[in-house]
Amino acid sequence: MKVAVLGAAGGIGQALALLLKTQLPAGSQLSLYDIAPVTPGVAVDLSHIPTAVKIEGFSGEDATPALKGADVVLISAGVARKPGMDRSDLFNVNAGIVRNLIQQVADTCPKALIGVITNPVNTTVAIAAEVLKKAGVYDKNRLFGVTTLDIIRSNTFVAEMKGKNPQALNVPVVGGHSGVTILPLLSQIPGVSFSEQEVSDLTKRIQNAGTEVVEAKAGGGSATLSMGQAAAKFGLALVRALQGESNVVECAYVEGDGEHARFFSQPLLLGKNGVQERKPIGTLSAFEQNAMDGMLDTLKKDIQQGVDFVK
Ligand code: NAI
Repeated sequence: MKVAVLGAAGGIGQALALLLKTQLPAGSQLSLYDIAPVTPGVAVDLSHIPTAVKIEGFSGEDATPALKGADVVLISAGVARKPGMDRSDLFNVNAGIVRNLIQQVADTCPKALIGVITNPVNTTVAIAAEVLKKAGVYDKNRLFGVTTLDIIRSNTFVAEMKGKNPQALNVPVVGGHSGVTILPLLSQIPGVSFSEQEVSDLTKRIQNAGTEVVEAKAGGGSATLSMGQAAAKFGLALVRALQGESNVVECAYVEGDGEHARFFSQPLLLGKNGVQERKPIGTLSAFEQNAMDGMLDTLKKDIQQGVDFVK
C-alpha cells in the first residue's frame, strides 16, 4: 500500500503523516509532498520513528514523484481559515490548488482513492470530480471529501454531554462540510436521547466547532491536530478496505444517486474499489428533516461553484 499526502508540511499534513507513519500496516509506503522546501526534512524526521513504513518526501512544483504508484492520496494542500473567515472565503486560493493537484493525480495515479481535505470541501470535491472527468478517469466510487472531523467532534461532544465513552460512539453526520450543511443525526445514536434544546444546542456546536478552534487559535490557523487524527482515521479505513477487510463503514462526502444533492456525505461501506455501497441515511427526526430541507440550496450552490470553476 502506498499512501501519498499532499500538503504534508502543513499543520494537518504533519500531524497526519505522523499518525500514518505509526499506524499504517507494516510494509506500507508513505509519500509526502508539499511546495514547502522543508518537506523532505519532515520525511527524514519521521523516518527515525521505528515502524516498518517506508517514507519519502518531495517538494517543489511537481507532485508526480510522490504520486507514482499511490493507492491512496490525501490532499490537505491550501490555505486555512483565520478568524472572521468562512470556509467559502478560501475558495479563491484553494480551488486552483486542488485543480492543479488533481490534474497530477489524474495523470499519475488515476486509480487511486482520493480524499480531499482542503476547504471548502463542498466545492473542492466538485472541482476534483470535474477535473477527473475532463481527464477521462473519473470514478465516483474513488473520490471522497473527508468529513470525518465532523463525526469525531460529534462523538466527543455527545460523550461529554451524556457521560458516555466517546470511543464507543459513532454519530452519523450527513450533508456537507460547512455551517448549516453539516447535519449530525443525533436521533440515530443507540441508547442516547436528548431534549429538544439539547439537540438544537449540540447541532449548532457541531456545525460551528471549526470556528471554535479558529477563534481559540486567534489567527494561528484552524483545526490541525484533531483534523490530522480524523484524516488518519479515514485514510486508514481506506487502506483496510483496499486490503480486503470487510464491514469498513465511514461517513464521507461523495457523489451519490443525487437524491438530496449531487454530492452528499453519508455512511459508506468501503471496499477494494472505494465505495462499495452507499448506505441509506435512515429516518430523520422532524428537527433533522427541517435542517435538511434548509441546507440543500446552500449545498447545491457550493457544488455548482466548483463545477463552474472547471468549465
Ligand atoms: P497549513 O497552512 O498549515 O498547511 C497547508 C499546506 O499546504 C502548507 O504546508 C502549504 O505549503 C501547502 N501548499 C499550499 N499550496 C500548495 C500546493 N499548490 N501544492 C502543495 N502544497 C501546497 O493549513 P492546514 O491547517 O494544514 O489546512 C489545510 C487545509 O485543510 C485548509 O484548506 C483547511 O481549511 C482544510 N481543513 C479541512 C478540514 C476538514 O474537515 N476537511 C478541517 C480543517 C482544515
